[in-house]
Amino acid sequence: MKNQINDIKNQALEEISKADTLKKIENLRVKYSGRKSELTNVLRGIKDLSVAEKKEIGEFGNLTKQAIDGELSKKELQIKNEELKNIDEKEKIDITYPGEKFAKGHLHPLTQVRYDIEEIFKSMGFLVVEDREVEDEFHNFDAMNMPKDHPARDMQDTFWLKNGYVPRTHTSSVQARFMEKNKPPLKIISLGRVYRNENSDATHESNFHQIEGLIAAKSGEVTVANAKSIISEFMKGLFGKETKIRLRPSYFPFVEPGFEFDASCPYCKGEGCRICKQCGWIELGGAGMVNQNVFKAVGFTEDEFEGFAFGFGIERLAMIKYGIDDIRLFHAGDLRFLEQF
Ligand code: DAH
Repeated sequence: MKNQINDIKNQALEEISKADTLKKIENLRVKYSGRKSELTNVLRGIKDLSVAEKKEIGEFGNLTKQAIDGELSKKELQIKNEELKNIDEKEKIDITYPGEKFAKGHLHPLTQVRYDIEEIFKSMGFLVVEDREVEDEFHNFDAMNMPKDHPARDMQDTFWLKNGYVPRTHTSSVQARFMEKNKPPLKIISLGRVYRNENSDATHESNFHQIEGLIAAKSGEVTVANAKSIISEFMKGLFGKETKIRLRPSYFPFVEPGFEFDASCPYCKGEGCRICKQCGWIELGGAGMVNQNVFKAVGFTEDEFEGFAFGFGIERLAMIKYGIDDIRLFHAGDLRFLEQF
């Protein structure tokens, strides 16, 4: 019996020495020290032994159990210490580890350009004003010196609403709206949506954005030179300090004389490239001295005031600034495009 107990002990000690998890220790405790263990089982045989043997084997059995329990506890402690050491290692904070990058929302490229434009003009003392998108015929056309049946109305393909109103075809209507309430001197810009009955392609959309500018003061106080320098500052602010501008004679009913504005291509600096179609200049918008008929339409006396107005497409400015070749990308809601800004 002693041998049997010894064998159990040796086997137990060997298995305990190999155990490396608390779970294994727990299983060994059941196997070698629990009430249903092999050892307990063997010791149950004591009852059939002589008194002297009972004493001897009983004591031996107890010592063996104590030895096994002792080993189990020792090993358990050892494993726990080991795990604690590892936890230390695992949960150590590495303060040099680069932080996780969170995806952050940002402004739409058109909004970014819009804010840029506003900042540039505000820094030159302009007031930013807003007005309605659905206009009456008077403010969109008549007040802008485009009376009914005037061929100039054909310059802008118009959506007409059933009640005779129009989704404004340009932001120039804000000139009339503002001057009905405010007498010159004034310096305003207005940015917003405009609508044209147009098929969309890479450079046209039926819905896009414009910026309108107006400087007006007593006759003799505003000149083309003033306006040219303001637009030049604007283009430098948007496209870079080395940007040059030029004016070409053109016709718009609400200005006389009228011009079109070009900026030197910000990509090739005027050398000629794909963006500027090799000509070194990019057409940006229209401008001119306010036609006296516009002042008359809002109730001012002829020649009392003089002014300068200009209008640009915001998508076009954004396309040039960021080298975008299709206007439809702005409103397509494609994140692969939008995330680049
Ligand atoms: N309203 C014009 C358009 O939509 C742009 C424009 C041209 C505005 C000349 C102006 C200007 O103020 O003077 O095409």
